Amino acid sequence: MLEGKTVVLGVTGGIAAYKAADIASKLVQSGATVEVIMTESAQKFITPLTFRAITGRPAVTSMWEMTGEFSIEHISLAEAADIVLIAPATANTIARLACGLADDMLASTVLATRAPVIIAPAMNCNMYENTVTQENIQKLECRGFTFVGPETGRLACGTEGRGRLAATEAILSTVHMVLGRNGDLAGKTIVVTAGGTREPVDPVRYIGNRSSGKMGYALALAARDRGATVKLISTIDLPDTTGMDVFRVGTAGEMLTVVKEAVKGADALIMAAAVADFRPSQVAADKIKKDSISPYLKLEPTADILSEIQGDFIRVGFAAESRDLIENAKKKLAAKNLDLIVANDVTATGSGFGADTNKVTLLFKDGRIEDLPLMSKREVGEAIIDWMANGIE
Ligand code: PMT
Repeated sequence: MLEGKTVVLGVTGGIAAYKAADIASKLVQSGATVEVIMTESAQKFITPLTFRAITGRPAVTSMWEMTGEFSIEHISLAEAADIVLIAPATANTIARLACGLADDMLASTVLATRAPVIIAPAMNCNMYENTVTQENIQKLECRGFTFVGPETGRLACGTEGRGRLAATEAILSTVHMVLGRNGDLAGKTIVVTAGGTREPVDPVRYIGNRSSGKMGYALALAARDRGATVKLISTIDLPDTTGMDVFRVGTAGEMLTVVKEAVKGADALIMAAAVADFRPSQVAADKIKKDSISPYLKLEPTADILSEIQGDFIRVGFAAESRDLIENAKKKLAAKNLDLIVANDVTATGSGFGADTNKVTLLFKDGRIEDLPLMSKREVGEAIIDWMANGIE
């Protein structure tokens, strides 16, 4: 997904420098060309050879001893970069950048580039919390730099605190988000629901379903990485939601209330959540004792969110079916007055609840039907967002 992109990865001298090898590797796996610039102190923690082996390109270690295609102009990397990522970034490098210094290859590149810059700090928690470091971070944020992390946890110095390099996934996710900022959905707001609702029976038990939230999450990421403002309404804590507004809900009723508010001014609503159609008509105040549990639970219908929320925006539903897929999906498309329904065969191998892949058929309002092969949920998300991007004015 980063094909054709050049990522300049700056590695500075902290114990977390070894984690930059994993970041470089994941960037390469995503299709990016990765140019590594190491500060002098980074080379005390990890060797240039490691990055050469991972990226297939020599790591730049000095302004004065370069070889290869970037040897003539010291700002070539600054021009080649689609994005500059510094991970890990020490307090010292952050301070140098905040002052606008150009005293080594990394600082010169950052000063000379027009590409967006992401900084992933890693340092001792006292250094991070120090007013000077915080002022430097604020200065760089004001200049448009994006920060990811640091996280709180056990640090190399043995203490607990905020200063640990953000997880590789969060760093990569930020790279995708920043690269997508000016994408074809920039300025658009997309509301996505994810996960299965839980309808309480008593304080302990609930009626629920097996939705993991992965499909909704994949859609949210696909929309975010094309520049959309994403409002993700989820019943589940999802791994990395950098750059999204996340609303946690539990029941269908709560989801209805939050969706109603979120769609105000939105361009699209995608309901990937598995919403309960019924809930217990009474919720017991205390845990129902085993010997007093009745085999009959009285249920009442929940509100149908998609049917209730109409408006001047694109509305997409999913139909989770175990039989008569197309027939049932067609009925829901019409009954809920949708622009698109994603018919999801939840019994096919590798499809539906909890899987990383999905097998879906797209049924459009105009009668067109598009059968997609088994794909990753991210690819299914991309296909739906592609269609949406073409239709959004
Ligand atoms: O979360 P995963 O593990 O990745 O699994 C993905 C998924 C199988 C949950 C997803 O792909 C999917 O099919 N979601 C829709 C599940 C569902 O509730 O389908 P349905 O046919 O019951 O509902 C049709 C549509 O109406 C859905 O968009 C649903 O969100 C919506 N609905 C349903 C009931 C209700 N009370 N209000 C609604 O808005």
